Amino acid sequence: MDFYLAPMEGITGYTYRNAVHDIFGDVYARYFTPFISPRPKIGMQSKERKDILPENNKGINLIPQILSSNPDHFISLANEIYEEYGWSEINLNAGCPAKTVVSHGRGSGMLKNPDSLDAFLEKIFSGCHMKLSVKTRLGILNEEEFEELLKIYEKYPISELIIHARVMTDYYKLPARPDVVNDILDTCRLPIVYNGDIYNENDYENLIPDKSKIRAVMLGRGAITNPALPRVLNGGSPATPDEMHRFHDRLFEDFKELYFGDTPLLFHMKEMWSFMGDMYPDKSKALKEIRKTKKIAEYLAAVNEIF
Ligand SMILES: Cc1cc2nc3c(=O)[nH]c(=O)nc-3n(C[C@H](O)[C@H](O)[C@H](O)COP(=O)(O)O)c2cc1C
Repeated sequence: MDFYLAPMEGITGYTYRNAVHDIFGDVYARYFTPFISPRPKIGMQSKERKDILPENNKGINLIPQILSSNPDHFISLANEIYEEYGWSEINLNAGCPAKTVVSHGRGSGMLKNPDSLDAFLEKIFSGCHMKLSVKTRLGILNEEEFEELLKIYEKYPISELIIHARVMTDYYKLPARPDVVNDILDTCRLPIVYNGDIYNENDYENLIPDKSKIRAVMLGRGAITNPALPRVLNGGSPATPDEMHRFHDRLFEDFKELYFGDTPLLFHMKEMWSFMGDMYPDKSKALKEIRKTKKIAEYLAAVNEIF
Protein backbone atom coordinates (compact mmCIF):
# COMPACT_ATOMS: atom_id res chain seq x y z
CA MET A 1 0.00 0.00 0.00
CA ASP A 2 1.16 3.55 -0.64
CA PHE A 3 1.09 5.73 2.45
CA TYR A 4 0.95 9.52 2.45
CA LEU A 5 2.01 11.78 5.31
CA ALA A 6 -0.90 14.07 6.20
CA PRO A 7 -0.45 17.82 6.23
CA MET A 8 -0.32 18.98 9.84
CA GLU A 9 0.13 22.68 10.50
CA GLY A 10 3.03 23.30 12.92
CA ILE A 11 4.22 19.67 12.71
CA THR A 12 4.89 18.23 9.25
CA GLY A 13 7.10 21.02 7.89
CA TYR A 14 10.26 20.25 5.95
CA THR A 15 12.44 19.59 9.00
CA TYR A 16 10.03 16.92 10.17
CA ARG A 17 9.63 15.44 6.69
CA ASN A 18 13.40 15.23 6.16
CA ALA A 19 13.93 13.61 9.57
CA VAL A 20 11.34 10.91 8.79
CA HIS A 21 12.74 10.36 5.31
CA ASP A 22 16.37 10.16 6.46
CA ILE A 23 15.83 7.92 9.49
CA PHE A 24 12.97 5.69 8.35
CA GLY A 25 13.61 5.65 4.58
CA ASP A 26 11.10 5.71 1.76
CA VAL A 27 8.08 4.89 3.89
CA TYR A 28 5.87 7.56 2.30
CA ALA A 29 4.94 7.79 -1.37
CA ARG A 30 3.83 11.41 -0.87
CA TYR A 31 4.18 14.18 1.69
CA PHE A 32 1.63 17.02 1.91
CA THR A 33 2.64 20.45 3.17
CA PRO A 34 0.58 22.17 5.87
CA PHE A 35 -1.78 24.60 4.17
CA ILE A 36 -0.56 27.78 2.51
CA SER A 37 -3.07 30.66 2.33
CA PRO A 38 -2.63 32.99 -0.63
CA ARG A 39 -1.74 36.59 0.24
CA PRO A 40 -2.14 38.21 -3.17
CA LYS A 41 -0.62 41.59 -2.28
CA ILE A 42 2.38 40.44 -0.23
CA GLY A 43 3.05 36.92 -1.46
CA MET A 44 4.13 33.81 0.40
CA GLN A 45 5.71 34.07 3.84
CA SER A 46 9.41 33.17 3.95
CA LYS A 47 8.52 30.17 6.17
CA GLU A 48 6.17 28.91 3.46
CA ARG A 49 8.75 29.43 0.71
CA LYS A 50 11.37 27.52 2.69
CA ASP A 51 8.90 24.70 3.19
CA ILE A 52 8.47 24.10 -0.54
CA LEU A 53 12.00 24.87 -1.80
CA PRO A 54 13.20 21.84 -3.79
CA GLU A 55 16.56 21.89 -1.95
CA ASN A 56 14.71 21.50 1.34
CA ASN A 57 12.76 18.52 -0.01
CA LYS A 58 15.38 16.29 -1.65
CA GLY A 59 14.05 12.82 -2.37
CA ILE A 60 10.62 13.86 -1.13
CA ASN A 61 7.56 13.67 -3.34
CA LEU A 62 5.89 16.87 -2.17
CA ILE A 63 2.32 18.04 -2.71
CA PRO A 64 1.87 21.65 -1.58
CA GLN A 65 -1.57 22.36 -0.14
CA ILE A 66 -3.54 25.58 -0.64
CA LEU A 67 -6.34 26.89 1.57
CA SER A 68 -8.52 29.43 -0.21
CA SER A 69 -12.11 30.02 -1.28
CA ASN A 70 -11.14 32.60 -3.88
CA PRO A 71 -10.52 30.81 -7.19
CA ASP A 72 -8.36 33.61 -8.63
CA HIS A 73 -6.12 33.62 -5.55
CA PHE A 74 -5.92 29.82 -5.67
CA ILE A 75 -5.00 29.77 -9.36
CA SER A 76 -2.36 32.44 -9.08
CA LEU A 77 -0.62 30.78 -6.07
CA ALA A 78 -0.90 27.29 -7.60
CA ASN A 79 0.66 28.51 -10.85
CA GLU A 80 3.45 30.31 -8.94
CA ILE A 81 4.28 27.12 -6.99
CA TYR A 82 4.20 25.04 -10.17
CA GLU A 83 6.27 27.42 -12.26
CA GLU A 84 8.81 28.62 -9.67
CA TYR A 85 9.23 25.53 -7.52
CA GLY A 86 8.38 22.79 -10.01
CA TRP A 87 5.85 20.79 -7.95
CA SER A 88 3.51 19.15 -10.41
CA GLU A 89 0.47 18.67 -8.19
CA ILE A 90 -1.38 20.98 -5.83
CA ASN A 91 -3.86 19.94 -3.15
CA LEU A 92 -6.97 21.90 -2.18
CA ASN A 93 -7.83 22.00 1.53
CA ALA A 94 -11.59 21.44 1.86
CA GLY A 95 -11.42 20.07 5.37
CA CYS A 96 -9.97 22.47 7.94
CA PRO A 97 -12.62 22.92 10.67
CA ALA A 98 -11.08 25.95 12.47
CA LYS A 99 -13.73 28.64 13.05
CA THR A 100 -11.65 31.48 11.61
CA VAL A 101 -11.10 29.44 8.45
CA VAL A 102 -14.68 28.16 8.05
CA SER A 103 -16.21 31.58 8.67
CA HIS A 104 -14.52 32.81 5.48
CA GLY A 105 -15.89 29.86 3.50
CA ARG A 106 -12.49 28.18 3.40
CA GLY A 107 -11.50 24.63 4.46
CA SER A 108 -14.63 22.69 5.53
CA GLY A 109 -16.49 25.96 4.95
CA MET A 110 -16.34 25.08 1.23
CA LEU A 111 -18.71 22.16 1.90
CA LYS A 112 -21.52 24.39 3.19
CA ASN A 113 -22.74 25.44 -0.20
CA PRO A 114 -22.33 22.76 -2.90
CA ASP A 115 -23.12 25.22 -5.72
CA SER A 116 -20.28 27.53 -4.66
CA LEU A 117 -17.95 24.53 -4.38
CA ASP A 118 -18.94 23.51 -7.91
CA ALA A 119 -18.28 27.02 -9.24
CA PHE A 120 -14.92 27.16 -7.42
CA LEU A 121 -13.80 23.80 -8.87
CA GLU A 122 -14.97 24.78 -12.34
CA LYS A 123 -12.78 27.89 -12.21
CA ILE A 124 -9.65 26.32 -10.76
CA PHE A 125 -9.75 23.38 -13.15
CA SER A 126 -9.87 25.73 -16.09
CA GLY A 127 -7.22 28.11 -14.71
CA CYS A 128 -4.54 25.70 -13.40
CA HIS A 129 -1.96 23.87 -15.49
CA MET A 130 -0.93 21.20 -13.00
CA LYS A 131 -2.65 18.17 -11.44
CA LEU A 132 -5.11 19.05 -8.68
CA SER A 133 -6.11 16.81 -5.80
CA VAL A 134 -8.66 17.57 -3.07
CA LYS A 135 -8.61 16.78 0.65
CA THR A 136 -12.19 16.86 1.87
CA ARG A 137 -14.33 16.00 4.87
CA LEU A 138 -17.69 14.24 4.51
CA GLY A 139 -19.75 17.35 5.14
CA ILE A 140 -20.53 19.94 7.77
CA LEU A 141 -23.05 18.31 10.11
CA ASN A 142 -24.10 14.96 8.61
CA GLU A 143 -22.34 12.30 6.63
CA GLU A 144 -25.40 12.17 4.31
CA GLU A 145 -24.14 15.47 2.85
CA PHE A 146 -21.33 13.56 1.18
CA GLU A 147 -23.53 12.09 -1.55
CA GLU A 148 -24.17 15.48 -3.11
CA LEU A 149 -20.58 16.64 -2.59
CA LEU A 150 -19.23 13.53 -4.28
CA LYS A 151 -21.44 14.12 -7.34
CA ILE A 152 -19.77 17.52 -7.67
CA TYR A 153 -16.24 16.17 -7.18
CA GLU A 154 -16.89 13.51 -9.82
CA LYS A 155 -17.53 16.19 -12.45
CA TYR A 156 -13.84 17.18 -12.36
CA PRO A 157 -10.56 15.41 -13.23
CA ILE A 158 -9.42 15.40 -9.59
CA SER A 159 -6.17 13.42 -9.50
CA GLU A 160 -6.96 11.97 -6.05
CA LEU A 161 -9.82 12.57 -3.65
CA ILE A 162 -8.42 12.31 -0.14
CA ILE A 163 -11.28 11.74 2.26
CA HIS A 164 -10.82 12.63 5.90
CA ALA A 165 -13.70 10.48 7.11
CA ARG A 166 -15.24 12.99 9.49
CA VAL A 167 -17.74 15.84 9.20
CA MET A 168 -16.67 19.35 10.18
CA THR A 169 -18.43 19.26 13.56
CA ASP A 170 -16.55 16.05 14.48
CA TYR A 171 -13.41 18.23 14.53
CA TYR A 172 -10.57 15.78 15.34
CA LYS A 173 -12.06 14.21 18.42
CA LEU A 174 -15.08 12.19 17.37
CA PRO A 175 -14.36 8.82 15.78
CA ALA A 176 -13.81 8.60 12.02
CA ARG A 177 -16.65 7.27 9.85
CA PRO A 178 -14.91 4.82 7.51
CA ASP A 179 -18.19 3.18 6.42
CA VAL A 180 -19.11 6.22 4.36
CA VAL A 181 -15.86 5.81 2.43
CA ASN A 182 -16.13 2.03 2.11
CA ASP A 183 -19.67 2.43 0.73
CA ILE A 184 -18.59 4.53 -2.25
CA LEU A 185 -15.58 2.50 -3.35
CA ASP A 186 -17.46 0.34 -5.87
CA THR A 187 -19.08 3.22 -7.67
CA CYS A 188 -16.84 6.28 -7.33
CA ARG A 189 -14.90 7.06 -10.49
CA LEU A 190 -12.18 9.07 -8.73
CA PRO A 191 -9.08 7.55 -7.11
CA ILE A 192 -9.77 7.55 -3.37
CA VAL A 193 -7.28 8.03 -0.55
CA TYR A 194 -8.56 7.15 2.93
CA ASN A 195 -7.65 9.28 5.97
CA GLY A 196 -8.72 9.09 9.61
CA ASP A 197 -7.90 7.32 12.89
CA ILE A 198 -5.25 4.82 11.81
CA TYR A 199 -2.89 4.25 14.73
CA ASN A 200 -2.00 0.55 14.40
CA GLU A 201 -2.39 -2.63 12.36
CA ASN A 202 -5.81 -3.36 13.83
CA ASP A 203 -7.19 0.00 12.77
CA TYR A 204 -5.71 -0.48 9.32
CA GLU A 205 -7.24 -3.93 8.89
CA ASN A 206 -10.66 -2.98 10.22
CA LEU A 207 -11.23 0.54 8.90
CA ILE A 208 -10.71 -0.34 5.24
CA PRO A 209 -11.54 -4.00 4.64
CA ASP A 210 -11.03 -3.97 0.84
CA LYS A 211 -7.72 -2.26 0.25
CA SER A 212 -7.62 -3.09 -3.44
CA LYS A 213 -10.22 -0.39 -4.05
CA ILE A 214 -8.29 2.55 -2.64
CA ARG A 215 -5.33 4.38 -4.14
CA ALA A 216 -3.50 5.04 -0.87
CA VAL A 217 -3.88 5.72 2.84
CA MET A 218 -3.00 9.05 4.43
CA LEU A 219 -1.66 8.87 7.99
CA GLY A 220 -1.92 11.76 10.45
CA ARG A 221 -1.64 11.61 14.22
CA GLY A 222 -0.92 7.87 14.23
CA ALA A 223 2.21 8.51 12.17
CA ILE A 224 3.41 11.36 14.39
CA THR A 225 2.96 9.04 17.37
CA ASN A 226 4.83 6.21 15.66
CA PRO A 227 7.06 7.35 12.77
CA ALA A 228 7.56 3.72 11.66
CA LEU A 229 3.79 3.21 11.28
CA PRO A 230 3.73 3.03 7.45
CA ARG A 231 6.55 0.46 7.51
CA VAL A 232 4.70 -1.62 10.10
CA LEU A 233 1.44 -1.45 8.13
CA ASN A 234 3.30 -2.75 5.08
CA GLY A 235 4.46 -5.75 7.11
CA GLY A 236 7.86 -4.32 8.17
CA SER A 237 9.52 -4.11 11.56
CA PRO A 238 8.52 -1.75 14.38
CA ALA A 239 10.68 1.28 15.19
CA THR A 240 13.82 0.22 17.05
CA PRO A 241 14.91 2.13 20.19
CA ASP A 242 17.97 3.27 18.22
CA GLU A 243 15.84 4.67 15.38
CA MET A 244 13.59 6.52 17.83
CA HIS A 245 16.62 7.95 19.63
CA ARG A 246 18.23 9.10 16.38
CA PHE A 247 14.91 10.49 15.17
CA HIS A 248 14.51 12.51 18.36
CA ASP A 249 18.06 13.85 18.24
CA ARG A 250 17.69 14.82 14.60
CA LEU A 251 14.47 16.72 15.30
CA PHE A 252 16.03 18.39 18.32
CA GLU A 253 19.09 19.55 16.37
CA ASP A 254 17.08 20.78 13.38
CA PHE A 255 14.42 22.48 15.51
CA LYS A 256 17.25 24.33 17.29
CA GLU A 257 18.09 26.00 13.98
CA LEU A 258 14.47 26.79 13.28
CA TYR A 259 13.14 27.95 16.64
CA PHE A 260 15.52 30.34 18.38
CA GLY A 261 15.60 30.21 22.17
CA ASP A 262 14.88 27.55 24.75
CA THR A 263 11.18 28.33 25.14
CA PRO A 264 10.16 27.94 21.47
CA LEU A 265 12.44 24.91 21.07
CA LEU A 266 10.98 23.20 24.13
CA PHE A 267 7.45 24.11 23.02
CA HIS A 268 7.95 22.29 19.72
CA MET A 269 9.70 19.28 21.26
CA LYS A 270 6.91 18.98 23.83
CA GLU A 271 4.39 19.04 21.01
CA MET A 272 6.21 16.10 19.39
CA TRP A 273 6.20 14.24 22.70
CA SER A 274 2.45 14.84 23.09
CA PHE A 275 2.20 12.30 20.24
CA MET A 276 5.36 10.17 20.54
CA GLY A 277 4.83 9.77 24.30
CA ASP A 278 2.14 7.17 23.55
CA MET A 279 4.93 4.86 22.33
CA TYR A 280 6.29 4.78 25.89
CA PRO A 281 3.40 3.81 28.19
CA ASP A 282 5.77 2.70 30.98
CA LYS A 283 7.70 6.01 31.02
CA SER A 284 5.01 8.22 32.48
CA LYS A 285 7.34 9.83 35.03
CA ALA A 286 9.87 10.95 32.42
CA LEU A 287 7.06 12.11 30.10
CA LYS A 288 5.66 14.22 32.94
CA GLU A 289 9.13 15.73 33.46
CA ILE A 290 9.23 16.61 29.76
CA ARG A 291 5.83 18.31 29.95
CA LYS A 292 6.87 20.36 33.01
CA THR A 293 10.39 21.34 32.12
CA LYS A 294 11.46 24.89 31.26
CA LYS A 295 15.18 24.15 30.89
CA ILE A 296 17.01 22.36 28.09
CA ALA A 297 19.27 20.44 30.49
CA GLU A 298 16.27 19.08 32.41
CA TYR A 299 14.55 18.25 29.16
CA LEU A 300 17.53 16.27 27.89
CA ALA A 301 17.83 14.41 31.19
CA ALA A 302 14.18 13.35 30.95
CA VAL A 303 14.64 12.31 27.31
CA ASN A 304 17.66 10.24 28.35
CA GLU A 305 15.47 8.51 30.89
CA ILE A 306 13.11 7.50 28.08
CA PHE A 307 15.75 6.18 25.72
C1 LIG B 1 -2.34 19.75 14.61
C2 LIG B 1 -3.01 19.41 13.30
C3 LIG B 1 -2.77 20.20 12.18
C4 LIG B 1 -3.39 19.90 10.95
N1 LIG B 1 -3.13 20.68 9.86
C5 LIG B 1 -3.72 20.38 8.66
C6 LIG B 1 -3.43 21.12 7.46
O1 LIG B 1 -2.62 22.05 7.44
N2 LIG B 1 -4.08 20.76 6.32
C7 LIG B 1 -4.98 19.71 6.29
O2 LIG B 1 -5.53 19.39 5.23
N3 LIG B 1 -5.24 18.98 7.39
C8 LIG B 1 -4.63 19.28 8.56
N4 LIG B 1 -4.89 18.50 9.65
C9 LIG B 1 -5.72 17.29 9.50
C10 LIG B 1 -4.85 16.06 9.19
O3 LIG B 1 -4.19 16.21 7.95
C11 LIG B 1 -5.71 14.76 9.15
O4 LIG B 1 -6.67 14.92 8.14
C12 LIG B 1 -6.42 14.51 10.48
O5 LIG B 1 -5.53 14.58 11.57
C13 LIG B 1 -7.10 13.12 10.44
O6 LIG B 1 -6.18 12.09 10.30
P1 LIG B 1 -5.73 11.21 11.58
O7 LIG B 1 -7.01 10.76 12.25
O8 LIG B 1 -4.91 10.10 10.97
O9 LIG B 1 -4.94 12.13 12.46
C14 LIG B 1 -4.28 18.79 10.88
C15 LIG B 1 -4.52 18.01 12.01
C16 LIG B 1 -3.92 18.31 13.21
C17 LIG B 1 -4.21 17.42 14.41
